[in-house]
Amino acid sequence: MLEHDVLVVGAGLAGMQAALHAAKQGVSVAILTKVHPVRSHSNAAQGGINAAMEEDDPWEDHAYDTVKGSDYLGDQDAIEVLCSEAPETIIELEHMGVIFNRGSRGQIDLRAFGGQARKRTCYVADITGQVMLHVIYEQLMKAGTQVYEEWFVTSLVRQNDAVCGVIAMDLRSGELHLIKAKAVILCTGGSGRVYEPSSNALICTGDGYAQAYRVGAPLMDMEMVQYHPTTLPGNGALMTEGARGEGAYLINANGERFMERYAPNMMELASRDVVSRAEQTEINEGRDINGCVLLDVRHLDRNTIMQKLSQIRELGLEYEGIDIIEEPCPVRPGMHYMMGGIKTDIEGATFVKGLYSAGEAACVSVHGGNRLGANSLLDTLVYGKRAGTSAVLYADGISSPDIPDSRLQEDREHINGILSRNSEQGERAAALRLAMGQTMHQHVGVFREQSGLEKAQDTIATLKERYRNVSVDDKGKVFNTDVLFALEVGLMLDVAEAIVASALFRTESRGAHYRTDFPERNDDDWLKHTLVFSDESGPRLETLPVTITQWQPARRTY
Ligand code: FUM
Repeated sequence: MLEHDVLVVGAGLAGMQAALHAAKQGVSVAILTKVHPVRSHSNAAQGGINAAMEEDDPWEDHAYDTVKGSDYLGDQDAIEVLCSEAPETIIELEHMGVIFNRGSRGQIDLRAFGGQARKRTCYVADITGQVMLHVIYEQLMKAGTQVYEEWFVTSLVRQNDAVCGVIAMDLRSGELHLIKAKAVILCTGGSGRVYEPSSNALICTGDGYAQAYRVGAPLMDMEMVQYHPTTLPGNGALMTEGARGEGAYLINANGERFMERYAPNMMELASRDVVSRAEQTEINEGRDINGCVLLDVRHLDRNTIMQKLSQIRELGLEYEGIDIIEEPCPVRPGMHYMMGGIKTDIEGATFVKGLYSAGEAACVSVHGGNRLGANSLLDTLVYGKRAGTSAVLYADGISSPDIPDSRLQEDREHINGILSRNSEQGERAAALRLAMGQTMHQHVGVFREQSGLEKAQDTIATLKERYRNVSVDDKGKVFNTDVLFALEVGLMLDVAEAIVASALFRTESRGAHYRTDFPERNDDDWLKHTLVFSDESGPRLETLPVTITQWQPARRTY
């Protein structure tokens, strides 16, 4: 029988940080991950990590920019924790071996990022997440933490009122196992691939959201879906905001720096929701170039591009055949990040005992209606540490769970059902996934309104019905990625349903949630979080007050 005090699901930055801090307390900790840890999506974070590192930059200013960026939906107690713990987090990273870019005095260099009143983003060229992930992975190896690598959680085990383990498939053998754990921490990342296209890796399928939701943990602010302003049209790949931080322009078909009309003070460095809406407006009104605007870095020094933006130069060359040193690159808003997620408190605890979460999977909520670029890496580390620490405290106080082996049966039957269906007559998971993603992009994207949201709701309901007949071609057991893909799609459909229900519920515009039929922010009725619970009859919506400590809601301009 496999058993741990604390089991962390997901091995991106939040997961590894949670595991490291749990392990420091001498309990039995393991990480379970569907891919090798350094293939986790934290790898793709390019531009940097925010922290108020300079003496004349109090952390409260970082917190204020974050609150404003969130369109006042972020919980200010959580934002205070995030920003006050940021500088020490950077120093810890540095001590572990993250070699940040340096300024002329040898200090950690800072670059500008969107929605912030000053430079506050520490970075490693345009591969910050990749470097951090490798360094933290080294620490995990040093700590000797057990890793269930290429294992996939099929469901959480909840007994009575507490989560006490998981059912998981070892992808190499196809065998299902019960893993007991006094506490489970979900660090499964976001659900970018519920949309098509997306800047996210193919593995970002929102598994943790759906699994938590299915055992009674509510999801919060799921309507808050971030579209990043600069993604490539072909495959949705990210072109870092760091480019605009270094001074890149956005221009339309008429050659205008159109941000002048939308955010005259901050221009290209307004918050992401503002820039993405501006771009989409230019595109919708016909000032586009084949559905795109242009990201122009030609006026930057060649050395700056080669030293600080070399990865996006490669991406431009590889996917668009464009050398950004010579030519502007077409970009458009693309689904990038979930501000919403599994509702947690500032210790990472969810509404269900024994279940914790951190990183993009969680909603604590530090991002509210719109996340500032480079606050997500910070979130993973600050709240990964807290979740790891508090899960151990919880686990210390309880005895080993007693779970009958028969608990495996339901998951086994579901998988056997997928394997045994005739693949000629069954539904293709890939077709369901594509239809879901395109519907979400079309109706639940940068702009939304009631009738489109209702269409999306109907489509997702139909896809869920069709999913009951999903089948696969590969009938084998060993590394059956066909089955894995089918299981992911089942989870994604629940996530899509929760996003649409939440977007229909919030009848105002705030942050990334822009309802053309309710174009104003409405603090009287909607200065509150949405909570979505999974009921037998479908999603059930409730609200929760926003925590305000020192910054009263104000009109947001950039
Ligand atoms: O543009 C970027 O480099 C993305 C960073 C982020 O989402 O935090």
